[in-house]
Amino acid sequence: MKIIKLNAIDSTNSYLKQLAKATCLQDETVVLTNRQISGRGQMGNVWLSREGQSLTFSMFKAFGRLQIERQFMISMAVSLAIVKALKSLNVPNISIKWPNDILSANKKIGGILIENVLEGNYVNQSIIGIGLNVNETDFLKLPQASSLKLETGKTFFLEEVFQSIVISVFQNLKDLTQKNFEDIKLKYENELFQKEKVSVFEAPDGLRFNGIIKGISEIGELLVETENQALRKFQLKEVKLIY
Ligand code: BTN
Repeated sequence: MKIIKLNAIDSTNSYLKQLAKATCLQDETVVLTNRQISGRGQMGNVWLSREGQSLTFSMFKAFGRLQIERQFMISMAVSLAIVKALKSLNVPNISIKWPNDILSANKKIGGILIENVLEGNYVNQSIIGIGLNVNETDFLKLPQASSLKLETGKTFFLEEVFQSIVISVFQNLKDLTQKNFEDIKLKYENELFQKEKVSVFEAPDGLRFNGIIKGISEIGELLVETENQALRKFQLKEVKLIY
């Protein structure tokens, strides 16, 4: 493993993406920054972080040839690795909000942005960006956000949290080739936020509907049982879980 520490950068994901394009990057390279100036989130959102209080880093993983239909495995393996690391740090009530938001007590404490480099029908390389709220104590404009400190009452050493997540993520990614999809899927579904509970969803046209999360499909779509017990599959842009 190789760790690059930067004082400030626009986005650790963008930095690692450029590096991977320009050079033959060593497998398991990690870039960590104190200050991320224009952090990127999922679906074109921005990711805000605070110097000295948040963790913002990206990890580079080279795969042999992971079939493109199996790419959601990366997302599941990374989310599960973060859950494991946070549980070992005694953070309570951790769950995964589909597809890969990390929650503690129903509030978002971490996010993952995975950018895959494809070659034909295979995922060749992955850039896995992780943002984690660690010691922040005010989220006035973000009522659905929280931090490790707010959920535990403890102040964490950023370096300790960083190390345990990085080790856990690379461990899970190593196992990807060995473990089968079903095994990871089962573990992931066990950690899913609101599984088997009635939830409110929002469609892209703004219409809200009730449904029960049953699990995920073979390609990572969310399986929701809607009224009249119909099972529907949703891709990322097709549905938003409200609560
Ligand atoms: C989300 O929208 O939940 C995903 C957030 C991912 C943020 C991390 S912070 C480190 C890395 N660099 C980025 O620009 N984004 C990811």
